Amino acid sequence: MARSDLLLNLVEAERSGDRQRFLMVVESVIAEERKKHHHLVADRLEELISTTGASATDRYQSPPVTQDGLLLEVIPRRRLADLSLLPETATSISEVIEEQRRRDVLRTHGLEPRHRLMLIGPPGNGKTTLAEAIATELMVPMYVASYEALISSYLGETASRLAALFEFARTRECVLFFDEFDTIAKERADRHDTGELKRVVSSLLLGVDRLPSHVLLVTASNHPEVLDRATGRRFQVHANLPAPSQAQIRRFVERMANRSEGFGVTPDTIAKTMTGSSYSEVENLLLDIRRRYVLGLPDADLKRTAQERLGRWRNQKS
Ligand SMILES: Nc1ncnc2c1ncn2[C@@H]1O[C@H](COP(=O)(O)OP(=O)(O)OP(=O)(O)O)[C@@H](O)[C@H]1O
Ligand SMILES: [Mg+2]
Repeated sequence: MARSDLLLNLVEAERSGDRQRFLMVVESVIAEERKKHHHLVADRLEELISTTGASATDRYQSPPVTQDGLLLEVIPRRRLADLSLLPETATSISEVIEEQRRRDVLRTHGLEPRHRLMLIGPPGNGKTTLAEAIATELMVPMYVASYEALISSYLGETASRLAALFEFARTRECVLFFDEFDTIAKERADRHDTGELKRVVSSLLLGVDRLPSHVLLVTASNHPEVLDRATGRRFQVHANLPAPSQAQIRRFVERMANRSEGFGVTPDTIAKTMTGSSYSEVENLLLDIRRRYVLGLPDADLKRTAQERLGRWRNQKS
């Protein structure tokens, strides 16, 4: 955000007594300062707005960035160009990336970039990879929520850990990733439990609602049908990553073939055998062919290796 804009926003929020907005603006400032590696200023500001009053440096000392293991930091490496996406998915993701990159422009017009994404699709078709690729494109860290650390058997504890997780993320420009979102956002009405699940989902939704737009929330699910009904409308983008069709597998194999010396058989042959598989399964088979071939050199025959691996795949499937 342009500085003058921030300042205006800050003063307006103060004048109108809108504490929520005031905090959001300060959090944007903190995120900006952190990005510029001005950690002292960022920590001090964070202390000033923190509800607990605890010093930020105390809270984050050990471990430094993972908030007691609630979040695992992933160094993003995958690129958007590495992924085969449906055209409509590719378009909406590129739009969100542009909105994030050019949020100053949006803000001068009183608009915020979209920042809540849900990725839907069966296993092995790129949900996690896409979340990582978005972080790479935006050059921000990726924090992955760890359910192991988050979900506690003690009553009430999970909700407060969730609150701590969100509090940590709010002052950082980042991709915040919740994999298997249904694990934590299950339909509340369906359960005869003590109310613990209700508390967790409410606390989750509250955290999601309060996230500033510099935190790009990405959630992934294979089972969107079990998600709590109230979660759906919170997400501004629902992107589908379905399993590839035969033609899409062929194109994927062609792309992989162009990066190496090919696979000894035509992409079409591979696509026909692999129809119904995920991208991940296709990729694994292609890598298997290359591995067996390379280790069999100098006598190895690429075509024979490929035929042998494809034959094995057919047997496995039948
Ligand atoms: N659409 C895709 N385009 C290119 N490669 C892909 C695609 N989908 C998956 N892959 C390859 O398969 C691997 C596994 O995919 P990924 O972990 O992203 O799937 P996922 O949808 O998150 O699966 P899960 O639901 O099991 O978590 C990736 O590392 C990538 O190499
Ligand atoms: Mg995944």
